[in-house]
Amino acid sequence: MGKTIGILTSGGDTPGSNAAIRALGKAALSKYSMQIIGFRDGFRGLVDNRYVALDNKMLSGILTLGGTILGTSREKPFRMNNNGHETDMTDTIIKNYNNHKLDALVCIGGNGTQKNAYHLAQRGLNIITLPKTIDNDVAKTDITFGFDTAMGIATEAIDRLHSTASSHHRIIVVEIMGHKAGWLALGAGIAGGADVILIPEIPYHIEKIAESILERKKAGKSFSIIAIAEGAMSVDFNKTYAALKQQINTTEDEDKRNKLKQERAELDVLNASNTIRLANRLQELTNLEARVTILGHLQRGGTPSSADRLLATRMGTACARFIDKEKYGIMVAIQKNQIVAVPLEKVVGKTRKVPGRHQWIKSARRFGTCFGD
Ligand code: F6P
Repeated sequence: MGKTIGILTSGGDTPGSNAAIRALGKAALSKYSMQIIGFRDGFRGLVDNRYVALDNKMLSGILTLGGTILGTSREKPFRMNNNGHETDMTDTIIKNYNNHKLDALVCIGGNGTQKNAYHLAQRGLNIITLPKTIDNDVAKTDITFGFDTAMGIATEAIDRLHSTASSHHRIIVVEIMGHKAGWLALGAGIAGGADVILIPEIPYHIEKIAESILERKKAGKSFSIIAIAEGAMSVDFNKTYAALKQQINTTEDEDKRNKLKQERAELDVLNASNTIRLANRLQELTNLEARVTILGHLQRGGTPSSADRLLATRMGTACARFIDKEKYGIMVAIQKNQIVAVPLEKVVGKTRKVPGRHQWIKSARRFGTCFGD
């Protein structure tokens, strides 16, 4: 009798998730004679015991589908929403895992999912994870699936914004997803030929951005496209934010810490309208009309690219092989184009940011892209 495995998708939905479920499922069923159960809506479904048996019929025809056939949520096992109260539901998860006689649980997700999965691994469950996020910011893997599709969508948006910006002689500021890491804004910004790229890793000066736009104008280019990541911050804002973060990390008093966290949440709300404020200020400084386009969840929707289907398929089938070998407590990763198994403790609590001297940045600087620094 083969093994029984559970699968769930958690965190923001990502193109390529179904390709991964399909690859893992088909390999598990046909090559390793395993049984598979898919839990609905992330860790929530594991708590509520909402599941579906994944057979060949369920796994057919899903390769090209966006989103996830299993549904997803951002619920955490140890802080689950129970009628407005946060409750630790880990014991219920362990009970359901044992009731289903699972040999392993596969958790497909980004940084939050890696952390939640590690928590379950520490409680003794056999866990394997796959890295999926359009942000491409999971540590110890060179790439996550979902990123390529989202980058393609954002690049096409920048391409299309060029003709309208140029016709109206405007500045168009296009906001691209990525709170902590700027991979998406950087990749799409370069591929789409944005004139200014702003990412969380490089705090910017508004005056320097205005200067570069005015220089373009002097050179006869009366429009500019600015690709900005959601989490990009001005130098001043970044200083305040970093100081607050430092205070939160060093304050032991619980009440004081909670107050500081509240302050940080207020700053987050303020930064959510950063793109609009930036556009308004640039309009004042350059005397050029400015407009804003927020791509938002468009970037996560629809058919996965061929690169994401391929990556998710490689990771999914490798995952089935690792389960067969009983290699648990790991994330399936890609390093130098090879599939590797990385211990979960090396992944959690980290965000893979864009290094300041990354080749993409160096290359963009060489042909004059402004980063606002
Ligand atoms: O984690 C992926 C991501 O799309 C981020 O880029 C974005 O900041 C966030 O999710 C949005 O989350 P939600 O869909 O919960 O609003």
